[in-house]
Amino acid sequence: MAGVPGSAPALELRGITKRFGDLVANRSVDFDVVGGEVHALLGENGAGKTTVMRIAYGLTHPDAGSVLVEGHEVAIRSPRDAIAAGIGMVTQHFSLVGPMSVAENLALGRASGLRLDLDAARRRAVHAAERFGIRVDPDARVADLSVGEQQRVEILKALARDCRILILDEPTAVLVPAEIEALFATLRSLLEEGLSVVFISHKLGEVRAISNRVSVLRQGQMIGTVAGSTDERELARMMVGRPMLGVERSAGAPAPSEAEPVLRIRDLRVDGAHGRPSVEDVSLGVRGGEILGVAGVSGNGQTELMAVLSGMRRPVAGTVSVGDLDLTGADPRQMTAARVGRIPEDRHASLIPDLSVAYNLVMERLDDFRHSGRIDERAIRAHADELIARFDIRASPDDRVAALSGGNIQKVLLARVLSRDPRVLVVSQPTRGLDVGATEYVRSQLLARRADGAAVLLVSEDLDELLALADRLIVLYEGRIVGEMSAQEADREQLGMLMAGRGRNP
Ligand SMILES: Nc1ncnc2c1ncn2[C@@H]1O[C@H](COP(=O)(O)OP(=O)(O)OP(=O)(O)O)[C@@H](O)[C@H]1O
Ligand SMILES: [Mg+2]
Repeated sequence: MAGVPGSAPALELRGITKRFGDLVANRSVDFDVVGGEVHALLGENGAGKTTVMRIAYGLTHPDAGSVLVEGHEVAIRSPRDAIAAGIGMVTQHFSLVGPMSVAENLALGRASGLRLDLDAARRRAVHAAERFGIRVDPDARVADLSVGEQQRVEILKALARDCRILILDEPTAVLVPAEIEALFATLRSLLEEGLSVVFISHKLGEVRAISNRVSVLRQGQMIGTVAGSTDERELARMMVGRPMLGVERSAGAPAPSEAEPVLRIRDLRVDGAHGRPSVEDVSLGVRGGEILGVAGVSGNGQTELMAVLSGMRRPVAGTVSVGDLDLTGADPRQMTAARVGRIPEDRHASLIPDLSVAYNLVMERLDDFRHSGRIDERAIRAHADELIARFDIRASPDDRVAALSGGNIQKVLLARVLSRDPRVLVVSQPTRGLDVGATEYVRSQLLARRADGAAVLLVSEDLDELLALADRLIVLYEGRIVGEMSAQEADREQLGMLMAGRGRNP
């Protein structure tokens, strides 16, 4: 382990306590990270990981406790104070400004005065991208980027500020294996220069690959700190407080290959930011009782494909149909009416964070809860209670969605969609950010929908997930389908090649 023996930790949190009303999100938490070290922070959804690190970064204020940098207590009232103390954070939810370019976003917060020197900002962005080995297009508008690409910009933004302590809140949740390896390589070279990294993740394999030490939070309390090499079973046991069953891999029964597709897409074309097509010539069909997996590196047309299927975007050409119903250019309401359940990659876009969990759960079907013009609050609550229990959402019906942990927000969306018995399900990154137990649960739910005869289109950057769930796979590269195979005959290496744009097998 790095760090000079006897020297103070780069960052130390002492006795951090944070309450939200009756809920104790952090209970006297101690944590430290030394120079040159990766210290991972694990815990189930809602354990308090984000909260304690938001305190270190000045986004939230503790009820008790202190933050020390290099052994000295510092008053961190805002991210500005944190940045001045050498602390950088890539938050779980993005802080980029959508309408601005990548270069402008990188310059934000460091520009003095009001005018932004665009040329200089651009040069700095290119330079930082090279130095840290993170591939971004400085001129791209952030709103046009996929979540994975936005994540790269976020990481670059933190690194470009020359922080000495970098807090990464689930940085790899949206990255594909090759991107994760690239990120780890970047981090390793920065660690040698003395950077300290706090790494929050639900992916235990990665945690073990990169971390020197691992600490586990459970219900706001620090359970313990162990070596980074500790095996996954033990880590899972620490997180949930009991031994975990492994996540079952299930290929399921073979898909009915002769049946007619329920969801059909023909010759789809969607234009991207620069007038170039983001999706081109995409034709596919998904049968009832089948999961079609869409593999690909983020930014290769998945976002646009999902946007069309979610009713958020009109295609330039091509058709979308469900059964005999033409849904080309349908809006979200029409999609819902056709029983097309959507779980888009951007959870926040389909929830209203300031509304309660109960209202978010009935948002698309408020009329069902209206009797002679009056909204039946009691029924809405009862409905919420039921779904909260069934989907194990750690929240109460009256909580605002904005106050929920990342994993629990995802569960609210899943509960809303899955409880409506969709005939077609289009899902993007369904388990991103979920803990081990929740991931297992969501996957079993998708398999259950499939067993009920739903046609499921599953977009995921997680190859393990695709191989565990899908019957058939297609690979998207630069907006086109460059490969198709059954999940049984799929081979990881071949998939990787296709995803990287090398080789075709349509
Ligand atoms: N602003 C807030 N208001 C009320 N409750 C909050 C607020 N922020 C967090 N909480 C609650 O504090 C608890 C800890 O949340 P936190 O986001 O720290 O969890 P987490 O460990 O990061 O989970 P995840 O893995 O799902 O991201 C949760 O129960 C959450 O609902
Ligand atoms: Mg979190």
